[in-house]
Amino acid sequence: MDKFVITGGTPLDGEIETSGSKNSALPALAAALLTEEPVVLNRIPRVRDIRTMQRLLVDIGSKVDAEGEAVRLQTPKIACPEAPYELVKTMRASSLVLGPLVARCGRARVSLPGGCAIGARPINLHIFGLEQLGARINQAHGYIEAEAPEGLRGAIVHFDRITVTGTEDLMMAAVLARGETILRNAAREPEVADLAGLLRAMGAKIEGAGTSTIRIHGVEALHGAEHAIIPDRIEAGTFLIAAAITGGDLTIKRCNPEHVGALVAKLLQAGAEVDQPDGETLRVRGAVSAPGRLRSVDVTTEEYPGFATDLQAQYMALMTQAEGIALVVETIFENRFMHAQELARMGANIRLDGKQAIVAGPTPLTGASVIASDLRASASLVLAALVAKGETVIDRVYHIDRGYERIEAKLAQAGARITRVE
Ligand code: EPZ
Repeated sequence: MDKFVITGGTPLDGEIETSGSKNSALPALAAALLTEEPVVLNRIPRVRDIRTMQRLLVDIGSKVDAEGEAVRLQTPKIACPEAPYELVKTMRASSLVLGPLVARCGRARVSLPGGCAIGARPINLHIFGLEQLGARINQAHGYIEAEAPEGLRGAIVHFDRITVTGTEDLMMAAVLARGETILRNAAREPEVADLAGLLRAMGAKIEGAGTSTIRIHGVEALHGAEHAIIPDRIEAGTFLIAAAITGGDLTIKRCNPEHVGALVAKLLQAGAEVDQPDGETLRVRGAVSAPGRLRSVDVTTEEYPGFATDLQAQYMALMTQAEGIALVVETIFENRFMHAQELARMGANIRLDGKQAIVAGPTPLTGASVIASDLRASASLVLAALVAKGETVIDRVYHIDRGYERIEAKLAQAGARITRVE
């Protein structure tokens, strides 16, 4: 298992380019199941979860040709409408094939995801939505089996809680349903709007994606398309925090500044300097070394456009270096503070109380041997290691490779002392 060896204390300086968004590429890959024509996706990040999804699509019957940042998919017919447990347990987002499979061939057999490090991760809302569209669902042996032999019919689906992949799954199910579907209390994440852009390019009729009400008029069939995936806002946010925590001066290229608005507002409040965005470029300078120092600022995670839960762990690492007490509230997942104990082992002063974490700072961090757990908790350990005194060894970095493309190479080119040890 690969490890990262990081020596802290060097302010980041230079430019880093973000990759395409993992959480936009995953539904986009699944959307290719909706047509027998070729779909070409550009700016696909080369990360582990994408390889897992591509393997799943090949097992289902797609031809997948990956070439650099582009992937060409074609599914002349569905050979096996299944997402087996051995794949789903490694990547919950496999449930994104559920909607497209039922829409394309009238049936799907998808393993229930089972929990993961950050929470139970049920898909009851995906199932609820498909039932509203007329699918018959039964659950047995850890799988859900969905059937719609006569096809799906449009319906009103009111999500009783906001779900990103639930919204995406149902949008993909509805594009071939008979009649109109309205998704209410839909997720407004940029990845939802990006998926709608791809589906419209394939001939779907969708309005309102990116708002909490999405209208879909079913069509007979979809055709092939070419589409470029939006930049990864969580990767960009992770690097913005890396600049702030090391007191560096970093320019993030090929990002979408609007998608990290909530984080930038917090960084400015905390005393970092962020220039006015210039197209796809964002420049941030940390305050840790400056006389102003970083100030503690509370944060509560919320669905987009609120502060992203996927940036909570990284932000907590930053607050260990800020002056004062920061209250970090996690409202989306029930168990997303795993990073706190590891940060505490490096010297952080964090108290957990249910959904809340109280971070007192600044506390000098010292390098330690730590173990990565979930994707974003691991990113938080990398950030802490960049500012810790001495050497940190992070084990099981495959967690990080799930969602970050060559993070060590990107950070090293901005001056970080980080190497991957096979
Ligand atoms: C997506 O997961 C992202 N993954 C997650 O990113 C992200 O943390 C999450 O949205 C929230 O923004 C992808 O897009 C592939 P949800 P998703 O359904 O869709 C509950 C990362 O680090 N819920 O919006 O699975 C659920 O338990 C990953 O890149 C139900 O109760 O999240 C959670 O508490 C981690 N029933 C809340 O809703 C359901 O049927 C939000 O989950 C579905 C969800």
